[in-house]
Amino acid sequence: MDRSGVSQRLAEAGQAHLLQFWDVLSPEEQKELHRDLKEMDFKEINGFFKSAMEISSSSKHEKMDTRMEPVPRDVLGSVTRDRDSVRDWEDAGLLCISQNKVAALLLAGGQGTRLGVSYPKGMYDVGLPSHKTLFQIQAERILKLQDLAEKKHKTKCCIPWYIMTSGRTMDSTEEFFSNHNYFGLDKEKVVFFQQGMLPAMDYNGKIILESKSKLSMAPDGNGGLYRALERQKILQKMQQRGIECIHVYCVDNILVKVADPAFIGFCVQKRADCGAKVVEKTNPTEAVGVVCKVDGHYQVVEYSEITLATAEKRSSDGRLAFNAGNVANHFFSFSFLKDIVQKYEPQLQHHVAQKKIPYVNETGAVIKPDKPNGIKMEKFVFDIFQFANTFVVYEVLREDEFSPLKNADSQESKDTPTTARHALMSLHHRWVLNAGGHFIDENGRHVPAIPRDDEAGSVALDVNRNLKDGTDLPIKCEISPLVSYGGEGLEDLVKGKEFHPTLTIDESGVHQLVKNGV
Ligand code: UD1
Repeated sequence: MDRSGVSQRLAEAGQAHLLQFWDVLSPEEQKELHRDLKEMDFKEINGFFKSAMEISSSSKHEKMDTRMEPVPRDVLGSVTRDRDSVRDWEDAGLLCISQNKVAALLLAGGQGTRLGVSYPKGMYDVGLPSHKTLFQIQAERILKLQDLAEKKHKTKCCIPWYIMTSGRTMDSTEEFFSNHNYFGLDKEKVVFFQQGMLPAMDYNGKIILESKSKLSMAPDGNGGLYRALERQKILQKMQQRGIECIHVYCVDNILVKVADPAFIGFCVQKRADCGAKVVEKTNPTEAVGVVCKVDGHYQVVEYSEITLATAEKRSSDGRLAFNAGNVANHFFSFSFLKDIVQKYEPQLQHHVAQKKIPYVNETGAVIKPDKPNGIKMEKFVFDIFQFANTFVVYEVLREDEFSPLKNADSQESKDTPTTARHALMSLHHRWVLNAGGHFIDENGRHVPAIPRDDEAGSVALDVNRNLKDGTDLPIKCEISPLVSYGGEGLEDLVKGKEFHPTLTIDESGVHQLVKNGV
């Protein structure tokens, strides 16, 4: 073990403190620490720290606020306002899928800190009647979409699924997929790759030790995607497969329409190299980023980066001025992604998050600070919007497509397993109503569905009403993605029929479970 080489590099980089406990470590711990340090480029890390700190101290909120403009109408497509075009977009997307040009790319390298689980979020079971996990729901939506494209175009096709994990989630994610037989997908078409990690640093740029022999490391943000694509030669694999459109999305949205053909078709028809899906932000304090222009370039401004005054600004129609809520669903053309990875990635700056980071003090004791003592550095996936030549925004309905799982039920009432489960069941309830089915209660009475006509003209439930009040629970209804991708194909199963909750519909048929287990 060449310890002197490492110590010299550490000394030169001002990080010599990382070896302060060397003499009291076991041979095994020494080996691990040496291996970790040997792999690190301290010059680069110090450079990241310097520029991230410079940028975070110069970009004061007030400045950002005055530089922002809302998304202009001409780049916006909407499932409600452009209702007549949605079918065309969907057809265009399905055609691309049938030609094997579309890939799904899942960002699943996060640590799920807020949810408080030690395993990857995609493995979470929110308590649906089927107990399917987020990974399974997404896998089955891919399977169904392949099936829809195959039936329409009479040709076999495949949507390869690229899954970005991190040092913390890689092994458990792969094992989970393997244990579940890849949920019926072709194993060869599910590609796992790992994003990079960066050390946490104190405010003086010193890397933090979480124990005597271990550095405090965290994934380098979902924008670590681009570096990972390059380092793990994923782009080459995509190119060999002839991929032209990539749908990038985050793991935690239970309603995510993976490889959504309408979104893909919209972007393709607009000849966009980059697109973002949004929902209308209605509450100024909602924790979503907003898509907007900053100094003339498209960007997502995170909720933490603007003042309340800006978040609360309203247009003349009474809607929030910055209302394009980022649902972390992005479209990239392959050539755009290639340019990003090969040309622009180094220009992306790390964002700084101040955190309470456990550390060892000089005596080797582990301290858990009660206020932020250092930073984590992260790149963001959407920071590449600025490089797009043709950027478009696609607005969808929140109740159809967005219900993220962020927090534990015990901590919050928003974005929890309960709200995610309710959102999915409410959506599936509406699908049944739209396909001509009805629900009846144990006394044989029609369950009032609180229907309202949404702008798209279909029957919708007031999801917010259902979810705000714990006594007003949604009907228990779950439809397998293997049966329906987006509400299609249900008429034969439900039209003119009456159902008791719990209703589940899967490949084996329609099942009802009434209270006493019948
Ligand atoms: C994210 C968006 C935010 C959006 C919100 C919607 C980013 C940077 N922010 O915020 O604009 O309104 O979702 O729900 O995209 N991840 C990695 N590697 C990492 C860190 C995260 O793959 O190093 C993945 C996570 O697994 C997850 C996704 O990125 O799938 C989003 O991460 P999260 O930290 O939950 O983002 P939010 O702050 O909620």
